[in-house]
Amino acid sequence: MHSGAASQGHPRASWLGPRQTMLEVFIALLSCVVRCIRAFVMEVIIQPSQEAASLLAAKMIASLVRRKPAAVLGLATGSTPLGLYRELARMHREEGLDFQRATTFNLDEYVGLAPGHPASYHHFMRENLFRHINVAPENTHIPDGLSCDIPATCEAYEASIRAAGGIDLQILGIGSDGHIGFNEPASSLASRTRIKTLTPRTRADNAPFFAQGEEVPHHVITMGIGTILETRQVLLLGFGLKKAEALAAAIEGPVSPMVPASALHFHPRAHVILDEAAATRLERTDYYRHVFDNKPVWQKQ
Ligand code: F6R
Repeated sequence: MHSGAASQGHPRASWLGPRQTMLEVFIALLSCVVRCIRAFVMEVIIQPSQEAASLLAAKMIASLVRRKPAAVLGLATGSTPLGLYRELARMHREEGLDFQRATTFNLDEYVGLAPGHPASYHHFMRENLFRHINVAPENTHIPDGLSCDIPATCEAYEASIRAAGGIDLQILGIGSDGHIGFNEPASSLASRTRIKTLTPRTRADNAPFFAQGEEVPHHVITMGIGTILETRQVLLLGFGLKKAEALAAAIEGPVSPMVPASALHFHPRAHVILDEAAATRLERTDYYRHVFDNKPVWQKQ
């Protein structure tokens, strides 16, 4: 005996399962379309200042941590995320934003620098974020720059990201040569955590973080572009004129290993948050502003 609409005299398409109604199929198709629209979106958000951009990024992270207290955050170092980290620390202090159950994975570390070295990314994270919030030290992960077996360390790093359930949201800065993490131009778009050699340009850009006369290391351990593409959401921050050219190439140029940040076009959910100066080389700023101002409600979640 048949059940459902067909047995009650309503016509039923022959490809429908025995328990599916037209309405159920319509809802399934609609949610599929919505998922497809959500996929592979690079959202470009231009903010009036670096401060406004940092506050917006902090709000997005806070909203994730409130929704999912055990969120897995991917973190970056350098001058770009400093305002964001200051705001997260303020939210923790004044609004009780709770990182107790959160886990963090940093993008990279210099090979040969001990965690106590003032230019190491271990030191940077401790001073600029970790000691200001309540994340459990055992839940924070940064590649070991002193490892005697770098390939094994890199494999273990990938394994611990997988064991944590993957990264929910990855913060990125961009190098003036277009790198993300320390994936320098010509990095494989499928690369995983590994050792990389810095370009002379990146070493010069990062020299101000080192004491005068001190050599910037040539090598780093960095998450790969493939590792970054597997994260569930990415926030790429870019501030100042110095980043304008790299950002234009990444956002409006072709996807190319020569501009590693351009690989984010293959990311299912990438947001690029810029200040006005960093947006000066973009051609379609009016359109990006229009899209942001008219964002459908369901996309704002
Ligand atoms: C840092 C990192 C790098 C920096 C980039 C920009 O962990 O992975 O990609 O984000 O070099 O550096 P700043 O922010 O100092 O301009």
